[in-house]
Amino acid sequence: MTATIEQTGLTPTGPRFGLRELIRMRTQPITRNDLMRERYGEVIRLKVFGVEMFPCYGLDAAEQVLINRDRAFAAGPAWGHFIGPFFRRGLLLLDFEEHLHHRRILQAAFANQALRSYHEVMLPHIKRGMAHWGEVPNPRMNELFKQLTLDLALETFVGIDLPQKEQDRLNKAFINAVRAGTSVIRANVPFTPWARGLTARKELEDFFYKNIPAKREHGGDDLFAQLCLAKSDDGDEFSDEDIVNHMIFTLMAAHDTSTITMTAMAYYLAKHPEWQEKARAEAIANDTDYDTNQTLDVLTRVMKEAIRLCSPVPSIPRMALRDTTVNGYLIKKGSFVTVSPYYNHRDRTVWTNPDEFDPDRFSDERREDQAHRMAFEGFGGGVHKCIGMHFARTQVRAIFQELLRTYKWSVPDDYTWPLDLVALPFPRDRLPVTLERLS
Ligand code: HEM
Repeated sequence: MTATIEQTGLTPTGPRFGLRELIRMRTQPITRNDLMRERYGEVIRLKVFGVEMFPCYGLDAAEQVLINRDRAFAAGPAWGHFIGPFFRRGLLLLDFEEHLHHRRILQAAFANQALRSYHEVMLPHIKRGMAHWGEVPNPRMNELFKQLTLDLALETFVGIDLPQKEQDRLNKAFINAVRAGTSVIRANVPFTPWARGLTARKELEDFFYKNIPAKREHGGDDLFAQLCLAKSDDGDEFSDEDIVNHMIFTLMAAHDTSTITMTAMAYYLAKHPEWQEKARAEAIANDTDYDTNQTLDVLTRVMKEAIRLCSPVPSIPRMALRDTTVNGYLIKKGSFVTVSPYYNHRDRTVWTNPDEFDPDRFSDERREDQAHRMAFEGFGGGVHKCIGMHFARTQVRAIFQELLRTYKWSVPDDYTWPLDLVALPFPRDRLPVTLERLS
């Protein structure tokens, strides 16, 4: 006879909820999840579109899932469910030995020396890309950052001089591949985002395959060249197919996350002009070289605080590879678990007044982010922790240093951004601001 949950000593989950509850949890990410946690415990049970899902609350649960000591969870099948056809065999879609093997090679493209080169390449493009912002009618920060990061990605990641028409074609293909993951119809039906995503994937593949031979021969300071030349300490390198897969995935992983982070920084700095002035003073007093960029303390704290309050990856999924437990709750083989940095970043056990914008919580004196291994999980944790974290910090600091030196921006006192949290967070109005040129 099979033992009941109570006989096994496991904690029973509450009733099973459906799509309506998932939408409520997404759209009221703090209040609704607080309520669910209070009523039903640390692990909630959902079934949506035939998939069994277990949202897990709290930092200990996040540690069990992301650190994954007994290898019960996999990232590949979980992320693959949402974005697999468009971003197949990207680093986050690989697991265990294979993931480690690829990550070791890819690491070379994110080493200090490589970041230094990317920084040098991006600086003039940031300056040029931002020069006309003062003339943009009705500027919206989210749109400006999106365009700038797309343009920068072509320079720092792809590093090939392309006619404007070709740049636009690539950018469009890339945007279509990203959008496809949120398509309601998940099949190759003409005119759907899914079908456009598949066409886009093919266009991106063709582009990268065509350019690999020249990159392998001539090298360069861009990520594409670094991937063509990257070798692990054991001398392993990537095949052409690996390079194409990693390029397409990395472009995606870098783009929206950086755009969201900068939009959140712009929002909070507009709402807190005293912090904007503090960051501006630092931006003006310091050089723009790579070594100085790494020491911009106010900007680093503002960036971390923006990611804490508005985590660009609000929810991290994994799939259970066998029957296992999280915090004593049974998780059945084949079901999904999710950890939410967005929710956990308001955990009152580690953050003082968690709803407030307070970059000083990351200061050496306070270090609230050190209170638990998973207190700050905006870049994830465990073996899949963001490989682009230092790249993102360098790029965002470089962009904000230039922005703060050149412009001042504000929003009306009573403005609150209408944040859409159904997929990745973004302000529905794209964050309109008054932008004033300083120099
Ligand atoms: C502020 C910006 C960024 C944020 C908040 C962010 C966040 C994350 C998170 C949460 C993960 C882990 C997902 C999981 O465990 O399921 C991740 C993984 C990853 N990120 Fe980022 N990311 C950012 C920027 C970037 C950039 C700029 C790049 C590349 C240049 C990048 C490349 C990657 C890659 C390749 C992975 C997969 C790592 C692996 O599976 O080993 N990210 N990122």
